[in-house]
Amino acid sequence: MKPIYLDYSATTPVAPEVFETMLPHLRENFGNPSSIHQIGRKARVSLDDARFRLAKVLGAKEYEIYFTSGGTEADNLALCGVLKNTKKRKRLLTTSVEHAAIKQTGNFLGENNVEVVFLPVNSEGFLLPETLENALAEETALVSLIYVNNEIGTINDIKILTEIAHKNGALVHTDAVQAFGKIKIDVNELGIDLLSVSAHKIYAPKGTGALYVKKEVDFDSHLKGGSQERGKRGGTENIAGIVAFAKAAELCAEHLEEEAVRIGKLRDKLQNGLIEKIDGIRVNGSQTQRLFSILNVSFTQVPSESLIVSLDLAGICVSAGSACSSGSINASPVLLAIGVSEAEAKSAIRFSLGRYTTEEEIDFVLEEIPKIINRLRFFMRKAD
Ligand SMILES: Cc1ncc(COP(=O)(O)O)c(C=O)c1O
Repeated sequence: MKPIYLDYSATTPVAPEVFETMLPHLRENFGNPSSIHQIGRKARVSLDDARFRLAKVLGAKEYEIYFTSGGTEADNLALCGVLKNTKKRKRLLTTSVEHAAIKQTGNFLGENNVEVVFLPVNSEGFLLPETLENALAEETALVSLIYVNNEIGTINDIKILTEIAHKNGALVHTDAVQAFGKIKIDVNELGIDLLSVSAHKIYAPKGTGALYVKKEVDFDSHLKGGSQERGKRGGTENIAGIVAFAKAAELCAEHLEEEAVRIGKLRDKLQNGLIEKIDGIRVNGSQTQRLFSILNVSFTQVPSESLIVSLDLAGICVSAGSACSSGSINASPVLLAIGVSEAEAKSAIRFSLGRYTTEEEIDFVLEEIPKIINRLRFFMRKAD
C-alpha cells in the first residue's frame, strides 16, 4: 500500500508539471547565467523570466526578488541584511513562536550587538497588536513575524501589525514560507518590506527560496561571493530549481481558492472525526484564523513519538510539529508558548494535508487512529 502522506507542511512532492519545466534546464539549457556565450545567455533569459513570473505572483517587481537556497537562507538574509546595515537602531522584535530559521538567527544577532526581543503570543498563537505597539516604544530597526505558523497554522494579521510597526518607524519582515501558495499574498497590499518564501513547500524541489525586498529598503549581503542577485547573494543560481519555483507558484495561485475549500473540508472532516471517535483530545491553536491544511492535536497520555511510529507502521506519515525539531523529545516551544502544558505538548501531532490528499485517505486515517490510540493508551496504563 502506498503510504498516506499527511506532512505537506514539512515538504511537498514535486508536481508533474513542475518537474517537466525543470528538465530542459538540467539538459540542453544547463548554462551559467553569468556566462556571455549563447548557452549562458539562454540560462540568463530563463532566470530573468522566472524572476519576473515569481514577482508577478507576489505583486512585486522583478528587481525586488532575490533568489536563495530556501526559506532558511531568505530568513537569514532578511534579518542579518537589514540589521548589519542600520547604523543606529540595532533592535529586532520577533515572536516566541517563530521557526528555527528566525529564532536561531535572532539568537545569533543577540550575541552580536543587536537587542533582540521575543514577544509573547496569546493562547491561539497570535501576536496581539497591543503587544507589538508596547514593545515598539523603544526605537526598533526591524520587526520579523511569522505569517502562518508551521506547527499550529495560526495566521497572523500581518497587514495590521505592519501598519503599527511602520507608524513607529520600523521595517517589517514576514516569514511567509507556510503562507505562500496557500494564502493570496500581494506585497503591496500587505505593506510588507521583506518576505521569505520557499519552493519545496509548494510542489517544487528543495534547495530554492526567495526573499522579497521592497525597492526602498537598504540591506547588506550575507553570502559573499560573485555579483549574482545584484550583489546581495553570491553563488551560481540554481536555474532548474528557480524555474520550477516560478511554475509552482503560478500553479498554486491559479488553484488557490478551490484548493483551500477542498483541503479545508478534508481537514475539518479529520478534526471532527477524531473528536467524535477519541476521548482526551485537544486541538491546539486557533480554530478560526488557521490555515486550511493544518491540524495540530494532542492525544492525552500518548507520547507523540510512539504515535508517529505506530502511524508510520500503519502507513500514515505525520510529524510532531516542525520537522526540523522532530527526533528531539522536547516539548514543542511553540505549544509551550501558547500555554499548552508540557505533557500535552509532548502528545501533539501535526497533520498537514495537501494537493494529493484524498477523502479515502482521510477515511482510512479515521479508521486506524482510534485503534492505535486505544492500544497505546492501554500500554501506557500498564507501564504506569
Ligand atoms: C515557517 C518556516 N520558515 C522557514 C522554513 C525553512 O524553509 P526551508 O526548509 O526552505 O529552509 C520553514 C520550513 O519548514 C518553515 O516552516
